[in-house]
Amino acid sequence: MLPIALSAEARTESAQLLNAILADSMILYALYKKHHWLVAGPTFYQLHLLFDKHAEEQLELIDLLAERVQSLGGIAVGDPRHAAELTTIERAPNGAEDVPAMIHRLLHAHEIVITKVRHAINRTDKNEDWGSNDLLMSDVLRRNELQVWFISAHLVDVPLVGDK
Ligand SMILES: [Fe+2]
Repeated sequence: MLPIALSAEARTESAQLLNAILADSMILYALYKKHHWLVAGPTFYQLHLLFDKHAEEQLELIDLLAERVQSLGGIAVGDPRHAAELTTIERAPNGAEDVPAMIHRLLHAHEIVITKVRHAINRTDKNEDWGSNDLLMSDVLRRNELQVWFISAHLVDVPLVGDK
């Protein structure tokens, strides 16, 4: 099909691995937007902005992943209801959660993505699908790890001045 000098088996496996990560990324994007809207409390403004920044970055990854699937001759997951069928990220309850719960939920979702990305990096390395391998490592893995750092930093207890 597409003359990219990669076996049909390798392209099919990569497309499946990438679609699973794409579906999770679509759910993670939606989770960030939900938290962007529903967050409340003393850290409202910074988290409102940070959640939206991370959502935008996930949206960029979604586009890269989907276009990579197409480049391999696969069919990218497009409908959010299809993504909901494929994802292994637990559905969040309707309505708001408190900030620590939102952060734990996001960190758990990131770890699900990162676990799949690490596995896919390994598989694409074995299959010599370097295009997918580079996308997963340089873009998806690094961006998710960076977002985990930024989100995790909000869990640190900062003692109040004068507290014993
Ligand atoms: Fe907004």
